[in-house]
Amino acid sequence: MLEGRVALVTGGSRGIGRAICEALAGEGAAVAVNYRSGKQQADDVVAAIEQAGGRAVAIAGDVAEYGDADTMVAQTVERLGGLHVLVNNAGISQDALIYNMEPDAWLDVMRVNFGGVFNCTKAALGHFMKEREGVIVNVSSVMGERGWTGESNYAASKGAINAFTRCCAMEAARFNIRVNAVLPGFSPTELVAGLTEKEGGKGILKQLPMKRFGDVEEIARVVLFLASPASNYMTGSLVNVDGGAMAMCGLGKPL
Ligand SMILES: NC(=O)c1ccc[n+]([C@@H]2O[C@H](COP(=O)([O-])OP(=O)(O)OC[C@H]3O[C@@H](n4cnc5c(N)ncnc54)[C@H](OP(=O)(O)O)[C@@H]3O)[C@@H](O)[C@H]2O)c1
Repeated sequence: MLEGRVALVTGGSRGIGRAICEALAGEGAAVAVNYRSGKQQADDVVAAIEQAGGRAVAIAGDVAEYGDADTMVAQTVERLGGLHVLVNNAGISQDALIYNMEPDAWLDVMRVNFGGVFNCTKAALGHFMKEREGVIVNVSSVMGERGWTGESNYAASKGAINAFTRCCAMEAARFNIRVNAVLPGFSPTELVAGLTEKEGGKGILKQLPMKRFGDVEEIARVVLFLASPASNYMTGSLVNVDGGAMAMCGLGKPL
């Protein structure tokens, strides 16, 4: 499905990003695995892809810095011979109630989550526009469309990604560039371990229509679909991958 294509996945060293790298490589794409600090983890992803017969390189860079994003795109083109797919996956959380939240916690989350999407998109667009083709998949969250106690900074960053996805799709369509977003619910990774591994995890599970968390591979498969020609007529779409969470009214069961 993606033979001859090159993909750059931000935050590809673990969690959902790793699953995305492996899913894209499994369909023939050469993959640039971006990481910020986890070099060994990124090297492990590259090794796993190569062992399965694929092609990958690890590329360091902080998505919150525009200069790094620009370098990551240039290195991908140089080392893998092109760029066709950008997956903006890197993300962090620093949960706190607004009243207790340090201004830095607000800004850090915005700078990495939303700033990272802006920086990498801007850096890749020049290349995509020149080539008159490109696909961008943003990994957002259901939180960007709903309220959640203690996650105002994270939810705002994801809401910004959702709005940005639509606007970017409008601007890029004339260049044959598609831009969509995947909105995961809960998938057990380091990012949400505090929510899914403790007692709170049971409370969340009870409320999910499908009564289970999503595997990272289940998120990755939808990213793969949006990155591939199978979704050629889709742009500006926000796709929930959440076990039914977004379909709920959120008021509990009827009496
Ligand atoms: N897990 C969920 O339930 C869930 C739900 C909804 C949405 N999401 C979204 O899915 C995406 C992946 O989350 P995850 O659960 O897989 O998280 P994770 O396991 O914590 O992995 C985060 C990845 O992002 C990288 N990263 C963090 N800050 C970075 C930066 N400034 N520059 C470059 N890379 C950076 C990390 O690399 P280093 O280790 O090198 O820093 C790591 O590879 C995020 O956007 C998250 O918001 C996750």
